[in-house]
Amino acid sequence: MSDQLESLRDETLAALAAAGDLRVWDTIRVATLGKSGRLTALLKALGKTPPDERRARGAALNRLRDELDAAIEARGQALQAAALDARLSHERVDVTLPVQRVPSGSIHPISRTIEEIVAIFGAMGFRLAEGPDIETDWHNFAALNTPAHHPARTDHDTFYLPTPEGHPTRLLRTQTSPVQIRTMLDQAPPIRVIVPGRTYRADHDATHSPMFHQCEGLVVDRGITLGHLKGCLIEFLRAFFDQPALPVRVRASYFPFTEPSMEVDIGWSRRTGEIGGGGDWLEVLGSGMVHPRVLANCGVDPREHTGFAFGMGIERLTMLKHGIPDLRAFYDSDIRWLRHYSTSPLRPPLLHEGL
Ligand code: DAH
Repeated sequence: MSDQLESLRDETLAALAAAGDLRVWDTIRVATLGKSGRLTALLKALGKTPPDERRARGAALNRLRDELDAAIEARGQALQAAALDARLSHERVDVTLPVQRVPSGSIHPISRTIEEIVAIFGAMGFRLAEGPDIETDWHNFAALNTPAHHPARTDHDTFYLPTPEGHPTRLLRTQTSPVQIRTMLDQAPPIRVIVPGRTYRADHDATHSPMFHQCEGLVVDRGITLGHLKGCLIEFLRAFFDQPALPVRVRASYFPFTEPSMEVDIGWSRRTGEIGGGGDWLEVLGSGMVHPRVLANCGVDPREHTGFAFGMGIERLTMLKHGIPDLRAFYDSDIRWLRHYSTSPLRPPLLHEGL
């Protein structure tokens, strides 16, 4: 190898070894093998070499090109690997760090209460049932032992819908109770369902909204008693308000579709609004043993099966649990209010953690 080729080789290899990053490496590559690189220039000049030297010179140049090519390639790969290592150690992800606060949606307190109710009754073996918001007069009233001129109908301020001639009267359901009827028509006992859903009444003030939510419950089986009803509701209320000793009492009442009927109260303080103590009582839901006529309307033989039912207002339960004074705030979509009362979707209600 001529001195000229040897010095090109030594200089290039030394420069490559000294190259600290890919930018410098690329300059060396271009200066050697690029269009106007030093080795390229020598290869181009080969034609002007005297013919008797050309062969040996050509062979030497080709060997040098292969050698430098390989050296450049190897150094390039080494630098690339080093750059990647540096980046990886710099950008390492610590999976144990807490999740960064990114803007995300949250669960509305009404939805949260529904999730909690579902979690509690789900653990007691209840299934979720649904029905339509637009109901027939029969499902919403008549089948529930509330015929056309029954006085209880006037309490409901019903939204009636235009009904075509010859069709059953349609309305926006005033209660989730019609889903009791649909469930019993749909399946034979044993039945154990809860029915959260929207309900409608022509009523609007601080504690009433024309659209609101209820949750119905229905159990039908052989040998179901008032004792089962009380046990089930006491268990529910204590879990929902997270108070294992929450005082609960039942009071005789009247609903057309239950006999006997009872109202369920929890202990609270009228003065402070605090749930649990204080010596006052607050009504939270209605319930009773399913009226034999309602069972019979759905083809269930009341001599064979008995059942209990209950219904509660979801807004009301949510207001009590969180001390929310005005029901209209639920539907105002005020972002400050929502931020305060809504929950993270990453925290679903888990019974073993308390709700
Ligand atoms: N549907 C009743 C209402 O809207 C609530 C209710 C009371 C439901 C007693 C029931 C029940 O299932 O047994 O006022």
